[in-house]
Amino acid sequence: MSKDKVDIFDTTLRDGEQVPGCKLDTKQKLVIAERLDQLGVDIIEAGFPISSPGDFASVEEIAAIVKYARVCGLTRAVKKDIEVAAQALKKAKRPRIHTGIGTSDSHIQFKFNSTREKIIERAVEAVAYAKTFVEDVEFYAEDAGRTDNEYLARVCEAVIKAGATVLNIPDTTGYCLPEEYGAKMKYLRENVKGIDKAVLSCHCHNDLGLATANSIAGVINGARQIECTINGIGERAGNTSLEEVVMILRQHPHLNLDTNINSKLLYSTSQMVSQKMGMPVQPNKAIVGSNAFAHSSGIHQDGVIKKRETYEIIDPEDVGVTESSIVLTARSGRAALAYRAKKVGYELTKVQLDKVYEEFLKFADVKKEILDEDIHEIIESSNVNLESLA
Ligand code: KIV
Ligand code: ZN
Repeated sequence: MSKDKVDIFDTTLRDGEQVPGCKLDTKQKLVIAERLDQLGVDIIEAGFPISSPGDFASVEEIAAIVKYARVCGLTRAVKKDIEVAAQALKKAKRPRIHTGIGTSDSHIQFKFNSTREKIIERAVEAVAYAKTFVEDVEFYAEDAGRTDNEYLARVCEAVIKAGATVLNIPDTTGYCLPEEYGAKMKYLRENVKGIDKAVLSCHCHNDLGLATANSIAGVINGARQIECTINGIGERAGNTSLEEVVMILRQHPHLNLDTNINSKLLYSTSQMVSQKMGMPVQPNKAIVGSNAFAHSSGIHQDGVIKKRETYEIIDPEDVGVTESSIVLTARSGRAALAYRAKKVGYELTKVQLDKVYEEFLKFADVKKEILDEDIHEIIESSNVNLESLA
Protein backbone atom coordinates (compact mmCIF):
# COMPACT_ATOMS: atom_id res chain seq x y z
CA MET A 1 0.00 0.00 0.00
CA SER A 2 1.43 3.39 -0.92
CA LYS A 3 2.16 5.74 1.94
CA ASP A 4 0.47 9.06 2.54
CA LYS A 5 2.86 11.94 2.07
CA VAL A 6 3.50 14.41 4.87
CA ASP A 7 4.83 17.75 3.59
CA ILE A 8 7.87 19.11 5.37
CA PHE A 9 7.65 22.87 5.88
CA ASP A 10 11.06 24.04 7.01
CA THR A 11 11.13 27.23 9.06
CA THR A 12 14.82 27.21 10.05
CA LEU A 13 15.27 30.53 8.26
CA ARG A 14 12.28 32.19 9.95
CA ASP A 15 11.23 30.69 13.33
CA GLY A 16 14.68 29.08 13.68
CA GLU A 17 16.46 32.32 13.03
CA GLN A 18 14.52 33.97 15.88
CA VAL A 19 17.03 32.36 18.29
CA PRO A 20 18.88 35.16 20.08
CA GLY A 21 22.39 35.59 18.67
CA CYS A 22 21.81 33.35 15.65
CA LYS A 23 21.16 36.00 13.02
CA LEU A 24 22.29 35.00 9.55
CA ASP A 25 23.20 37.28 6.66
CA THR A 26 21.63 36.85 3.23
CA LYS A 27 24.60 34.93 1.84
CA GLN A 28 24.45 32.37 4.66
CA LYS A 29 20.69 32.05 4.25
CA LEU A 30 21.07 31.36 0.54
CA VAL A 31 23.52 28.52 1.20
CA ILE A 32 21.14 26.98 3.75
CA ALA A 33 18.14 27.41 1.45
CA GLU A 34 19.94 25.59 -1.38
CA ARG A 35 20.79 22.77 0.98
CA LEU A 36 17.18 22.53 2.22
CA ASP A 37 16.07 22.31 -1.40
CA GLN A 38 18.48 19.39 -1.99
CA LEU A 39 17.38 17.77 1.26
CA GLY A 40 13.88 17.54 -0.21
CA VAL A 41 11.83 19.85 1.98
CA ASP A 42 8.50 20.78 0.38
CA ILE A 43 8.27 24.34 1.63
CA ILE A 44 10.99 26.75 2.74
CA GLU A 45 9.78 29.56 4.97
CA ALA A 46 12.43 32.07 3.96
CA GLY A 47 11.60 34.91 6.35
CA PHE A 48 9.24 37.67 7.42
CA PRO A 49 9.71 40.21 4.61
CA ILE A 50 8.23 43.28 6.30
CA SER A 51 10.33 42.81 9.43
CA SER A 52 13.52 44.38 7.99
CA PRO A 53 15.13 45.28 4.66
CA GLY A 54 17.60 42.42 5.26
CA ASP A 55 14.79 39.90 5.65
CA PHE A 56 13.07 41.24 2.55
CA ALA A 57 16.28 40.86 0.52
CA SER A 58 16.83 37.32 1.82
CA VAL A 59 13.31 36.20 0.90
CA GLU A 60 13.65 37.84 -2.53
CA GLU A 61 16.98 36.15 -3.28
CA ILE A 62 15.93 32.77 -1.92
CA ALA A 63 12.75 32.95 -4.02
CA ALA A 64 14.90 33.44 -7.11
CA ILE A 65 17.28 30.50 -6.57
CA VAL A 66 15.16 27.71 -5.07
CA LYS A 67 14.45 25.05 -7.71
CA TYR A 68 12.01 22.56 -6.23
CA ALA A 69 10.48 23.69 -2.93
CA ARG A 70 7.72 26.23 -2.51
CA VAL A 71 9.05 29.44 -1.01
CA CYS A 72 7.01 31.07 1.71
CA GLY A 73 7.01 34.48 3.43
CA LEU A 74 5.37 35.23 6.79
CA THR A 75 2.99 38.13 7.41
CA ARG A 76 0.64 39.37 10.08
CA ALA A 77 -2.99 39.84 9.09
CA VAL A 78 -2.06 43.30 7.89
CA LYS A 79 -2.42 44.55 4.30
CA LYS A 80 1.01 46.19 4.11
CA ASP A 81 2.72 42.98 5.36
CA ILE A 82 0.94 40.98 2.66
CA GLU A 83 1.87 43.42 -0.11
CA VAL A 84 5.52 43.39 0.95
CA ALA A 85 5.60 39.58 1.16
CA ALA A 86 4.02 39.28 -2.30
CA GLN A 87 6.67 41.65 -3.66
CA ALA A 88 9.52 39.65 -2.06
CA LEU A 89 8.12 36.40 -3.47
CA LYS A 90 7.71 37.69 -7.04
CA LYS A 91 10.49 35.52 -8.48
CA ALA A 92 9.47 32.31 -6.71
CA LYS A 93 8.39 29.47 -9.00
CA ARG A 94 5.85 28.42 -6.38
CA PRO A 95 5.20 31.25 -3.90
CA ARG A 96 3.21 30.88 -0.69
CA ILE A 97 2.03 33.65 1.64
CA HIS A 98 1.70 32.61 5.28
CA THR A 99 -0.65 34.98 7.04
CA GLY A 100 -2.55 34.79 10.29
CA ILE A 101 -3.61 36.14 13.64
CA GLY A 102 -3.90 35.05 17.30
CA THR A 103 -7.09 33.15 18.05
CA SER A 104 -6.84 32.24 21.75
CA ASP A 105 -8.91 34.32 24.18
CA SER A 106 -5.69 35.52 25.72
CA HIS A 107 -4.40 36.84 22.37
CA ILE A 108 -7.78 38.28 21.41
CA GLN A 109 -8.18 40.12 24.70
CA PHE A 110 -4.64 41.19 25.58
CA LYS A 111 -2.85 41.46 22.23
CA PHE A 112 -5.66 42.81 20.10
CA ASN A 113 -8.18 44.14 22.62
CA SER A 114 -10.74 42.70 20.24
CA THR A 115 -13.55 40.15 20.02
CA ARG A 116 -13.81 36.67 18.53
CA GLU A 117 -16.06 37.93 15.70
CA LYS A 118 -13.72 40.76 14.74
CA ILE A 119 -10.75 38.38 14.67
CA ILE A 120 -12.60 36.14 12.20
CA GLU A 121 -13.24 39.19 10.01
CA ARG A 122 -9.56 40.14 10.04
CA ALA A 123 -8.50 36.58 9.28
CA VAL A 124 -10.85 36.35 6.31
CA GLU A 125 -9.78 39.75 4.97
CA ALA A 126 -6.10 38.80 5.22
CA VAL A 127 -6.55 35.50 3.40
CA ALA A 128 -8.71 37.07 0.69
CA TYR A 129 -6.17 39.85 0.20
CA ALA A 130 -3.21 37.42 0.03
CA LYS A 131 -5.20 35.43 -2.53
CA THR A 132 -5.15 38.43 -4.88
CA PHE A 133 -1.36 37.98 -5.13
CA VAL A 134 -0.77 34.21 -4.95
CA GLU A 135 -2.79 31.03 -5.29
CA ASP A 136 -1.20 29.28 -2.31
CA VAL A 137 -2.18 30.94 0.99
CA GLU A 138 -1.48 29.36 4.36
CA PHE A 139 -3.36 30.68 7.38
CA TYR A 140 -1.99 30.40 10.94
CA ALA A 141 -4.23 30.57 13.99
CA GLU A 142 -1.59 31.73 16.46
CA ASP A 143 -1.86 30.08 19.89
CA ALA A 144 -4.27 27.49 18.44
CA GLY A 145 -2.94 25.13 21.12
CA ARG A 146 -4.83 27.18 23.73
CA THR A 147 -7.76 28.13 21.48
CA ASP A 148 -11.16 26.68 22.17
CA ASN A 149 -11.79 23.99 19.53
CA GLU A 150 -15.28 25.07 18.64
CA TYR A 151 -14.16 28.66 17.92
CA LEU A 152 -11.03 27.42 16.13
CA ALA A 153 -13.24 25.34 13.83
CA ARG A 154 -15.26 28.47 12.97
CA VAL A 155 -12.07 30.38 12.15
CA CYS A 156 -10.84 27.52 9.95
CA GLU A 157 -14.15 27.26 8.11
CA ALA A 158 -14.17 30.99 7.41
CA VAL A 159 -10.61 31.14 6.05
CA ILE A 160 -11.12 28.06 3.87
CA LYS A 161 -14.10 29.87 2.30
CA ALA A 162 -11.79 32.85 1.72
CA GLY A 163 -9.35 30.58 -0.14
CA ALA A 164 -6.80 29.28 2.39
CA THR A 165 -5.02 26.21 1.03
CA VAL A 166 -3.26 25.25 4.28
CA LEU A 167 -4.42 25.66 7.89
CA ASN A 168 -1.60 25.99 10.37
CA ILE A 169 -2.59 25.01 13.92
CA PRO A 170 0.34 26.28 16.00
CA ASP A 171 0.94 25.23 19.56
CA THR A 172 2.72 28.55 19.89
CA THR A 173 3.50 28.23 23.59
CA GLY A 174 4.33 24.51 23.56
CA TYR A 175 1.49 23.87 26.02
CA CYS A 176 -0.43 20.91 24.59
CA LEU A 177 -0.12 17.25 25.47
CA PRO A 178 0.14 14.90 22.46
CA GLU A 179 -3.37 13.47 23.08
CA GLU A 180 -4.78 16.97 23.25
CA TYR A 181 -3.02 18.20 20.11
CA GLY A 182 -3.99 15.05 18.20
CA ALA A 183 -7.60 15.43 19.37
CA LYS A 184 -7.59 19.04 18.16
CA MET A 185 -6.61 17.91 14.64
CA LYS A 186 -9.25 15.19 14.71
CA TYR A 187 -11.89 17.67 15.87
CA LEU A 188 -11.04 20.04 13.03
CA ARG A 189 -11.13 17.25 10.46
CA GLU A 190 -14.54 16.17 11.69
CA ASN A 191 -16.15 19.55 12.31
CA VAL A 192 -14.87 22.04 9.73
CA LYS A 193 -16.97 22.27 6.58
CA GLY A 194 -14.77 22.23 3.48
CA ILE A 195 -11.78 20.76 5.35
CA ASP A 196 -10.97 18.57 2.34
CA LYS A 197 -10.02 21.71 0.41
CA ALA A 198 -7.15 22.49 2.80
CA VAL A 199 -4.15 20.75 4.33
CA LEU A 200 -3.90 20.77 8.13
CA SER A 201 -0.44 21.68 9.39
CA CYS A 202 1.33 21.08 12.73
CA HIS A 203 3.52 23.85 14.12
CA CYS A 204 4.69 22.90 17.60
CA HIS A 205 7.02 24.58 20.05
CA ASN A 206 9.11 22.70 22.55
CA ASP A 207 8.55 24.48 25.87
CA LEU A 208 7.66 21.19 27.59
CA GLY A 209 9.83 19.01 25.34
CA LEU A 210 6.74 17.76 23.47
CA ALA A 211 7.09 19.45 20.07
CA THR A 212 8.03 16.29 18.19
CA ALA A 213 5.48 14.09 20.00
CA ASN A 214 2.74 16.65 19.33
CA SER A 215 3.58 16.88 15.62
CA ILE A 216 3.47 13.11 15.30
CA ALA A 217 0.12 13.04 17.14
CA GLY A 218 -1.04 15.69 14.65
CA VAL A 219 -0.22 13.64 11.56
CA ILE A 220 -1.63 10.47 13.07
CA ASN A 221 -4.87 12.42 13.39
CA GLY A 222 -4.98 13.71 9.84
CA ALA A 223 -2.57 16.64 9.49
CA ARG A 224 -0.43 16.35 6.35
CA GLN A 225 2.19 19.04 6.90
CA ILE A 226 4.74 19.45 9.69
CA GLU A 227 6.50 22.77 10.33
CA CYS A 228 9.93 22.18 11.76
CA THR A 229 13.54 23.32 11.89
CA ILE A 230 16.95 21.73 11.53
CA ASN A 231 18.25 20.74 14.99
CA GLY A 232 14.91 21.89 16.46
CA ILE A 233 16.16 25.45 16.80
CA GLY A 234 13.69 28.26 17.32
CA GLU A 235 12.03 30.73 19.65
CA ARG A 236 12.63 29.88 23.38
CA ALA A 237 12.96 26.07 23.70
CA GLY A 238 12.72 25.69 19.93
CA ASN A 239 10.47 24.12 17.32
CA THR A 240 9.82 20.56 16.24
CA SER A 241 13.05 19.06 14.97
CA LEU A 242 12.98 18.14 11.27
CA GLU A 243 15.35 15.19 11.59
CA GLU A 244 13.28 13.69 14.42
CA VAL A 245 9.90 13.71 12.67
CA VAL A 246 11.39 12.45 9.41
CA MET A 247 13.09 9.50 11.10
CA ILE A 248 10.10 8.69 13.34
CA LEU A 249 7.91 8.29 10.26
CA ARG A 250 10.59 6.22 8.54
CA GLN A 251 11.20 3.95 11.52
CA HIS A 252 7.47 3.31 12.00
CA PRO A 253 6.26 2.12 8.59
CA HIS A 254 2.96 0.92 10.09
CA LEU A 255 1.92 4.59 10.33
CA ASN A 256 1.84 4.57 6.54
CA LEU A 257 3.24 8.09 6.37
CA ASP A 258 6.41 9.32 4.74
CA THR A 259 8.20 12.44 3.56
CA ASN A 260 10.33 13.40 0.56
CA ILE A 261 13.43 13.95 2.67
CA ASN A 262 16.74 12.43 1.58
CA SER A 263 17.69 11.27 5.06
CA LYS A 264 21.33 10.70 4.08
CA LEU A 265 21.76 14.48 4.07
CA LEU A 266 20.42 14.96 7.61
CA TYR A 267 23.70 14.88 9.52
CA SER A 268 25.62 17.17 7.18
CA THR A 269 22.70 19.62 7.06
CA SER A 270 22.58 19.67 10.85
CA GLN A 271 26.31 20.42 10.97
CA MET A 272 26.00 23.15 8.35
CA VAL A 273 23.18 24.95 10.21
CA SER A 274 24.97 24.59 13.53
CA GLN A 275 28.19 26.10 12.12
CA LYS A 276 26.52 28.96 10.27
CA MET A 277 24.41 29.90 13.29
CA GLY A 278 27.22 29.39 15.78
CA MET A 279 24.88 27.15 17.75
CA PRO A 280 26.35 23.81 18.84
CA VAL A 281 24.21 20.68 18.67
CA GLN A 282 23.78 19.10 22.11
CA PRO A 283 25.76 15.81 22.12
CA ASN A 284 22.73 13.72 23.12
CA LYS A 285 20.45 15.28 20.47
CA ALA A 286 18.39 12.55 18.79
CA ILE A 287 19.55 11.58 15.27
CA VAL A 288 22.27 14.22 14.79
CA GLY A 289 24.02 14.63 18.17
CA SER A 290 27.63 13.43 18.41
CA ASN A 291 26.55 10.71 20.86
CA ALA A 292 23.50 9.56 18.89
CA PHE A 293 25.42 6.52 17.58
CA ALA A 294 28.15 6.28 20.24
CA HIS A 295 28.24 3.39 22.70
CA SER A 296 30.23 3.56 25.89
CA SER A 297 29.01 0.97 28.38
CA GLY A 298 30.57 -2.48 28.15
CA ILE A 299 27.25 -4.34 27.89
CA HIS A 300 26.02 -2.16 25.01
CA GLN A 301 29.38 -2.25 23.22
CA ASP A 302 29.49 -6.03 23.36
CA GLY A 303 25.97 -6.18 21.88
CA VAL A 304 26.61 -3.67 19.10
CA ILE A 305 29.85 -5.38 18.07
CA LYS A 306 28.00 -8.71 17.82
CA LYS A 307 25.01 -7.19 16.00
CA ARG A 308 24.43 -3.46 15.53
CA GLU A 309 20.64 -3.75 15.87
CA THR A 310 20.89 -4.92 19.50
CA TYR A 311 21.26 -1.32 20.64
CA GLU A 312 20.57 0.80 17.54
CA ILE A 313 17.21 1.31 15.86
CA ILE A 314 18.62 3.42 13.03
CA ASP A 315 21.46 2.53 10.68
CA PRO A 316 23.77 5.57 11.06
CA GLU A 317 24.43 5.53 7.31
CA ASP A 318 20.73 6.24 6.73
CA VAL A 319 21.21 9.69 8.27
CA GLY A 320 24.65 10.31 6.80
CA VAL A 321 26.76 9.25 9.79
CA THR A 322 29.56 6.96 8.58
CA GLU A 323 29.42 4.43 11.41
CA SER A 324 28.50 3.79 15.03
CA SER A 325 31.30 4.57 17.42
CA ILE A 326 32.62 2.48 20.23
CA VAL A 327 33.89 4.91 22.86
CA LEU A 328 36.56 3.57 25.19
CA THR A 329 36.07 4.57 28.82
CA ALA A 330 36.53 2.87 32.19
CA ARG A 331 33.05 1.36 31.64
CA SER A 332 34.16 -0.46 28.49
CA GLY A 333 34.79 -4.18 28.36
CA ARG A 334 37.24 -6.45 26.57
CA ALA A 335 35.08 -6.74 23.44
CA ALA A 336 35.26 -2.99 22.88
CA LEU A 337 38.98 -2.85 23.52
CA ALA A 338 39.67 -5.74 21.12
CA TYR A 339 37.46 -4.09 18.49
CA ARG A 340 39.20 -0.71 18.72
CA ALA A 341 42.68 -2.31 18.92
CA LYS A 342 41.92 -4.20 15.71
CA LYS A 343 40.88 -0.95 14.02
CA VAL A 344 44.30 0.53 14.73
CA GLY A 345 46.15 -2.60 13.62
CA TYR A 346 46.42 -5.06 16.54
CA GLU A 347 44.76 -8.48 16.42
CA LEU A 348 44.96 -9.57 20.09
CA THR A 349 44.81 -13.17 21.30
CA LYS A 350 42.73 -13.88 24.40
CA VAL A 351 45.81 -13.98 26.63
CA GLN A 352 47.16 -10.75 25.15
CA LEU A 353 43.80 -9.07 25.50
CA ASP A 354 43.61 -9.93 29.22
CA LYS A 355 46.99 -8.28 29.79
CA VAL A 356 46.27 -5.23 27.69
CA TYR A 357 42.87 -4.84 29.36
CA GLU A 358 44.46 -4.62 32.81
CA GLU A 359 46.69 -1.81 31.58
CA PHE A 360 43.78 -0.19 29.78
CA LEU A 361 41.75 0.09 33.00
CA LYS A 362 44.60 1.94 34.71
CA PHE A 363 44.71 4.46 31.87
CA ALA A 364 40.94 4.73 31.65
CA ASP A 365 40.59 5.52 35.36
CA VAL A 366 42.73 8.58 34.80
CA LYS A 367 41.58 9.67 31.33
CA LYS A 368 37.92 10.32 30.48
CA GLU A 369 38.19 8.74 27.04
CA ILE A 370 40.85 6.54 25.45
CA LEU A 371 41.79 7.65 21.94
CA ASP A 372 43.51 5.72 19.13
CA GLU A 373 46.94 7.12 20.01
CA ASP A 374 46.47 5.98 23.64
CA ILE A 375 45.84 2.41 22.44
CA HIS A 376 49.37 2.19 21.00
CA GLU A 377 50.81 3.43 24.29
CA ILE A 378 48.69 1.03 26.37
CA ILE A 379 49.74 -1.95 24.27
CA GLU A 380 53.40 -1.00 24.47
CA SER A 381 53.34 -0.53 28.24
CA SER A 382 51.44 -3.77 28.88
CA ASN A 383 54.49 -5.89 27.95
CA VAL A 384 52.74 -8.19 25.52
CA ASN A 385 55.02 -9.58 22.85
CA LEU A 386 54.41 -7.09 20.04
CA GLU A 387 55.98 -9.36 17.45
CA SER A 388 53.33 -11.98 18.02
CA LEU A 389 50.65 -9.39 17.21
CA ALA A 390 49.30 -9.44 13.68
O1 KIV B 1 4.53 29.76 16.77
C1 KIV B 1 3.74 30.39 16.03
O2 KIV B 1 2.56 30.55 16.30
C2 KIV B 1 4.30 30.95 14.80
C3 KIV B 1 3.34 31.56 13.83
C4 KIV B 1 3.79 32.93 13.44
C5 KIV B 1 3.17 30.66 12.65
O3 KIV B 1 5.49 30.86 14.56
ZN1 ZN C 1 6.42 29.32 15.82
